[in-house]
Order: sequence, then C-alpha cells, then structure tokens
Amino acid sequence: MRKRKAVYWLAAAVFLMGLLFCMKPGPLSAWSAFDRLPGVQSSDGGEAADFAGRQEQKKICLTFDDGPHPLYTPPLLDGLKERNVKATFFLTGQNAAAYPELVKRMAEEGHVIGNHTYHHVSLKEVGGERFREEIVSTNEVLEELSGTEIEFIRPPYGVWDKRYEKELGMIPVMWNVDPLDWCRSNVQGIVQDVLKGAEENAVILMHDQYPSSVTAALSAVDALQKQGYEFVTVEQILFD
Ligand code: NI
Repeated sequence: MRKRKAVYWLAAAVFLMGLLFCMKPGPLSAWSAFDRLPGVQSSDGGEAADFAGRQEQKKICLTFDDGPHPLYTPPLLDGLKERNVKATFFLTGQNAAAYPELVKRMAEEGHVIGNHTYHHVSLKEVGGERFREEIVSTNEVLEELSGTEIEFIRPPYGVWDKRYEKELGMIPVMWNVDPLDWCRSNVQGIVQDVLKGAEENAVILMHDQYPSSVTAALSAVDALQKQGYEFVTVEQILFD
C-alpha cells in the first residue's frame, strides 16, 4: 500500500512537471521516467502468443477527462465507433447534467464512465467534506444517466485520499501517458507524445475539450491499432 501512496506522489509530480513544461515550451523528455502506476506495469516480453498460437493484442487504455463537451465529444464518439474503440470518460457532474444525451450515448456505445467531481475541484483546494459531496453528487447524476454503477474516479489534478476508496467504494485511476493536449493545439506533437509513451497496459490521459485533442486522439488510435494495440476500458487494464 506504501507503493500506492508513492504512485500518487509520482502522478502529482508528473502533473507538476507537465505544468512546468507547458509554461516553458521545450523538449518534453524528463517526465516519461516518472510514470508507473499500480497494475499498469509494462511488459517487456514483446508480443505474447496464446496456446492456439494466435498473437495476443497488447492492451492500452484511452481516457478523456472534463467532458462531455457539446461540440467536441460527438465527433470523438463518432470516430471511436468507426474504429471500434471503447474508451473511458471521466466526466464532471456539471457537464454531465448539462449534456445528458452525450452521457447516455457514451454508455450505450460501451464506453466506461467515471467520476471527475461535480465542479472539477481539487481535494486540496476544497477540503475533505466538500470533496466527498462532489463525488457523491456526481455519482448520482452519472448513475441516473448511464444506468450503471460508477466505480472509477479520476481525481482532478491527481490529488486523492485513500479513505474515499473505502468510504465510497471508489477506485482512483491515474495515468502514465500525458501528451499535455489541454495546453497546446499542435496535433502532430500531441500524437507523437502519445505514441512515444504508448506501451502495453498504458493509460493515456486526454481531454475531449478541444478539437485538436479529438483529431490527435483518433490519429493516435489509427497508428496504435496498426502497431497491434487493442483499446480497452480501464477495468480491463486494472483487473484483467
Ligand atoms: Ni480535469
């Protein structure tokens, strides 16, 4: 469990370094070393073959935070459907309530929906009691719209307290590939960083809040599918 705590610190460190890189544009190189998650270990074994001799696909997970967005989420969902890709969406309660049809569509199309607090707040900023309310009220909205139980949370800014895992039964989902799509619109740069960070069981963090993110995500999907990756939802990375 100490390992997990360390992982949260690492995730926070990765985020902070990301911020620094965003403020000071330059080569993105240092943070890739800080990106391990529990249950998201890489396998260096290359392509594994199952007993039938069939090549097993490498699993990878695409996650989108902060949505849904009325303009950019629909074309993303169209593109994912065309490519037969299931993703994981961490939604804020307020955006879900504002665009309920998009939440229903995500659920109908087989994507996993997770919690990203109601107002996109940091635990550090609002304190424990309010944070708890933010989680609970978001679950209520998401469960009603999706018809499924919400188990996963991506805490904004990666700030988390383990007690909510027990109290609320929520499973935090961090990330280990962060192309910083929220602070730049250079599609090619975003795609390159996704491809650079991609490995078996990686969790990619993106935001369906920008047209550049949507274009980059779909282009990265095309490239990674060609490399033999299969896009799965977060529980298949954490539990399979
Ligand atoms: Ni966010």
